[in-house]
Amino acid sequence: MNDSRGILSQAPVVPVLAIENLDDAIPLAEALVSGGIPVLEVTLRTPVGLPAISAIREAVPDAIVGAGTVVNAADFEAAVEAGSRFVVTPGLTQGILDTASGSEVPLIPGVATVSELMRALDYGFDCLKFFPAEASGGAAALRAFAGPFPNVNFCPTGGIGLHNIDEYLGVKSVLTVGGSWLTPGSLLAAQDWDAVTALARAAVEHVSTFRAKQ
Ligand code: 3PG
Repeated sequence: MNDSRGILSQAPVVPVLAIENLDDAIPLAEALVSGGIPVLEVTLRTPVGLPAISAIREAVPDAIVGAGTVVNAADFEAAVEAGSRFVVTPGLTQGILDTASGSEVPLIPGVATVSELMRALDYGFDCLKFFPAEASGGAAALRAFAGPFPNVNFCPTGGIGLHNIDEYLGVKSVLTVGGSWLTPGSLLAAQDWDAVTALARAAVEHVSTFRAKQ
């Protein structure tokens, strides 16, 4: 599926990746995919974010790679050019909304408030990143959003890890949860891809056990 809801529905969790070394892109993506995590958000926080997206798109066909930390229209266009299957932003700008509205690549815009959510809806975006989740009211805020906006779905991100993921998975509107905890800097620095796969497997198992009980 090419829509944002379809993509997030295939993601037990979404790792938020800040790749420093381009040579790590492919083994990192392979490690996550073999741990059961196909949807990868590669942030543009590092100079190699865009080439890392292109490399993963080309070499890891089972990965669904998108761009994160896209903060303006030029970034959006560069992310699409690099081969991103989806684009995630931490917030909303007019430029991003206008550019994404005319693009075939789905946008998952970041919102933290009801007014931002309403602005996203004005442009037809109803599958959103809730960021920064913990600092913006956490799972309780998402439950409150569901009253007036029962058809909006979320990928909360920001301050989430295995210690608090259940709070979010328990909210009906939450399709999946994102975060950087799956790829600690120490494992990337050590290029310990087996450990990345093990963390991925643990997260996938945790989510599927939780969902099976719901
Ligand atoms: C993001 O861009 O989604 C966040 O920086 C990830 O937040 P985390 O590092 O707290 O998981």
